[in-house]
Amino acid sequence: MKALVIGGNGFIGTALVDRLVERGIEVRVFDRYPSRFKEPVAGVEYMIGDFANLGEVHQAVSGVAWVFHLAYTTLPETSNEDPVYDVRSNVIDTIQLLQECCENEVDKLVFVSSGGTVYGVPQCVPIKENHPTNPICSYGITKLTIEKYLALFHHLKHLEYSVARIANPYGERQNPNAKQGAIGVFLGRIARSQPITIYGDGSVVRDFLYIDDAAEALIACADYVAAPDGPRLFNIGSGVGYSLNEIVDTIKKVVDVDVKVNHIPARQVDVPSNVLDIDLARTALKWEPKVDLETGIHKAWQWIKSLSLV
Ligand SMILES: NC(=O)c1ccc[n+]([C@@H]2O[C@H](COP(=O)([O-])OP(=O)(O)OC[C@H]3O[C@@H](n4cnc5c(N)ncnc54)[C@H](O)[C@@H]3O)[C@@H](O)[C@H]2O)c1
Repeated sequence: MKALVIGGNGFIGTALVDRLVERGIEVRVFDRYPSRFKEPVAGVEYMIGDFANLGEVHQAVSGVAWVFHLAYTTLPETSNEDPVYDVRSNVIDTIQLLQECCENEVDKLVFVSSGGTVYGVPQCVPIKENHPTNPICSYGITKLTIEKYLALFHHLKHLEYSVARIANPYGERQNPNAKQGAIGVFLGRIARSQPITIYGDGSVVRDFLYIDDAAEALIACADYVAAPDGPRLFNIGSGVGYSLNEIVDTIKKVVDVDVKVNHIPARQVDVPSNVLDIDLARTALKWEPKVDLETGIHKAWQWIKSLSLV
């Protein structure tokens, strides 16, 4: 049994690869760059290539049973700057991937969607999978569009798939210099003795999920055998909401240094609250998160400290 992880050298991908290898599953990683934070894993086949290159994707998909699609070229915040690029590089290239998966008769494609953006401003929390979807960023629209194409390919060509609408993952190998990922960015700034910057008053509530729990959920999505009209789309979060102020309070408990906070104006792209209802994942996937916030932040902090940031 072989699994392909597209985007396998990124934050979520490297955690997923470790979990797959632990289970004795053969792994091929396809990514345009090597991992910044992790040495190659023994026994894993690494292919450097671009998801936009059909020939390379064709080679990558050949001979695999599971495909995990994690590569994405945009972020919620940046996607609105160039929606045309967002659609071209994510939607169109993913449709090409779906065609390759059908031709190669893969058993299951797992797509990492976004629990934080596809719903838009929630009408109620926690948010169930059948909540209306009205994204307020292009990224959310392209994730949702890909979900619809997956359903179409299933309907027309019987491609088996699962969608993981992931909340806000955090933990080891979350890039502290990135434009998203509050916990990783906060810890990175603290490690450099810099103040944390919060958009708005810190009351924004998010659902933070420890990275290994996220990786386990993706494997559960691949393992899951759906009934013909059964669910194929799952919220993957902790099911618990924390405001950014509560995150900072938890960080203060964990780190052994002084934490300073600056507030700057709120961003248009941020919905006020997002907490996922994960009952469907609990029952159908037999998965649930295991790592609580304080433990997860402690693990992330140990990793950030090991980077010797200046
Ligand atoms: N991190 C989050 O907060 C979060 C939340 C919800 C969903 N997601 C989704 O999860 C997936 C993985 O996210 P991540 O946080 O690990 O991101 P990441 O940027 O750390 O990893 C993505 C990987 O994909 C690779 N990639 C991007 N474009 C590519 C291309 N054209 N060809 C080949 N490789 C390419 C990158 O090199 C990178 O290694 C993405 O689809 C993202 O939208 C992330």
